[in-house]
Amino acid sequence: MALLEVNHLDVRFALRQGDVRALRDVNFTLERGERLGIVGESGAGKSVAAFTLLNLIAKPGYIAGGEIIFDGKPLNSLSERALRKVRGNRISMIFQDPMMTLNPVLSIGEQMVECLKAHRRISTKAARAIALDKLRQVQIPSPEARLDQYPHELSGGMRQRIIIAIALLLDPDIIIADEPTTALDVTIQAEIMALLLELCEKHNVGLILITHDLGVVSQVTQRMLVMYAGRVIEQGPTREIINDPQHPYTQGLINALPQMATPGERLNQIRGSMPSLSNLPSGCAFHPRCDFINRADGTPRPACTQQVPEFVTSGNCQVACHMVAELLEKEREEQEAGDANRLKETNP
Ligand SMILES: Nc1ncnc2c1ncn2[C@@H]1O[C@H](COP(=O)(O)OP(=O)(O)OP(=O)(O)O)[C@@H](O)[C@H]1O
Ligand SMILES: [Mg+2]
Repeated sequence: MALLEVNHLDVRFALRQGDVRALRDVNFTLERGERLGIVGESGAGKSVAAFTLLNLIAKPGYIAGGEIIFDGKPLNSLSERALRKVRGNRISMIFQDPMMTLNPVLSIGEQMVECLKAHRRISTKAARAIALDKLRQVQIPSPEARLDQYPHELSGGMRQRIIIAIALLLDPDIIIADEPTTALDVTIQAEIMALLLELCEKHNVGLILITHDLGVVSQVTQRMLVMYAGRVIEQGPTREIINDPQHPYTQGLINALPQMATPGERLNQIRGSMPSLSNLPSGCAFHPRCDFINRADGTPRPACTQQVPEFVTSGNCQVACHMVAELLEKEREEQEAGDANRLKETNP
């Protein structure tokens, strides 16, 4: 069984004008030590997914359906007390802004010791020793001195190293990192990402990495989810998706990468923008931006504007797109016709 299993997750925000559906039928698994990327434009529901995994979704948000099974236990039906044991301990989270995690009035050492003592029966001295060890692991210069410093005395990159040390403090099984390097200088981003990857690999920690950066996803993760307007529209092995994206949205994201443009030309941005969740287009939510809503013969494919696409399996990937479903169906028919012909030839 997978370490983490998310089934049919449905998350809504109860607003005055009615419920907004932020996640619809989200399904994925994470094996022990596996690294999974979640990508998609702003507003796709990536952070909502991350918060929901730890049951941290705040009102008016609520889980309207589905289940999150961690290590065989359904997380969304645990008591708050039981959940606190999992949060920070077995699953920890790294946010874009280190100050979401760091307490400005406590020294780094105090916060780390407090965190350890909240989850383990341990003396202050032993906790300080563990904290020091973790600071060494994240390669902070003069770690002893850092223990007595306050968050504001450190640079952004240094703070994010501390956050990684705190995320690793209780030897978690999974780290969820939501845009962990976006707030940092470009030169430091790669260093921090490399450090996170190295530590996850070394300690066999699973990673759910949320990012806009497809380059990082392709370097760091083994599998990926592509989200659009609250749904996963493509998922599978990262290499397969990056090399041969099936969904027109995923193709659009990859074509928009700077390295895909001819030098001197404009970037190939996907036209239009992500729709508001309270006003989703009918059928496939991506259809108003899609260049492929016509069939091969030029006539429109009515399903694109009328039916929410189901998942089809293409290679090792799952894709929710009517065009892809049609292409696969055609391939299958051709294959069957070919097989029938061969049978006729061999048994005339
Ligand atoms: N507190 C809230 N109240 C109402 N709706 C919300 C709230 N938080 C999120 N949403 C809805 O969920 C959608 C997805 O938000 P989310 O923060 O998960 O996007 P994201 O994919 O993380 O985007 P970004 O890349 O900008 O971080 C939002 O566009 C909004 O419609
Ligand atoms: Mg976000």
